[in-house]
Amino acid sequence: MHQDIKEILISEEEIEKKCEELGSIINDHYKDAKDPIIFVALLKGSVPFLARLIKYIDLDIEYDFMDVSSYAGTETTRDIRILKDLDRSIKDTNILLVEDIVDTGHTIKAIIKLLENKGAKDVKIVSLLDKPSRREVDVYADFIGFEIPNEFVIGFGLDFNEKYRHLPYVGILKDEIYQ
Ligand code: PRP
Repeated sequence: MHQDIKEILISEEEIEKKCEELGSIINDHYKDAKDPIIFVALLKGSVPFLARLIKYIDLDIEYDFMDVSSYAGTETTRDIRILKDLDRSIKDTNILLVEDIVDTGHTIKAIIKLLENKGAKDVKIVSLLDKPSRREVDVYADFIGFEIPNEFVIGFGLDFNEKYRHLPYVGILKDEIYQ
């Protein structure tokens, strides 16, 4: 275990098992889809989750990446700036947005609107982690791996000052590291 970690919240084995379960649910959900299915992963946090999840996908999919940064807006609507956009048109496609965590909900709220404005036929969200106690806007992920408490979590894509993303588990950071 990394020295800056207080506790492992979700082990590598638990993540793997959950990705298999989510993969099976997603395969079933899209089994009759006629239009293209595109997994859209948000950089950078969702990269390990995307990589693990697609091992269990039996559908014909494409995947692509977006990078956005959010900046202050009103309390319920936060604007996002696109740092890296999708490579292709998503008109009339089924989009599965792949997230590592839904926290306040501002990011997915803004991205759903953006993807719908680009002409996506359907937008669904899969998130490895959900922190409902932090929610500020009324949005939810369609497929959720783990609901977690309001702790400072890192690892498996999640960072503190860009560190710890590479850890294969989700851990709780020691208080003295971020305070
Ligand atoms: C994190 C995370 C989600 C978002 C969730 O991304 O990956 O995209 O914040 O927060 P919210 O629900 O409060 O909007 P971040 O902007 O830290 O970028 P990163 O993935 O590159 O770490």
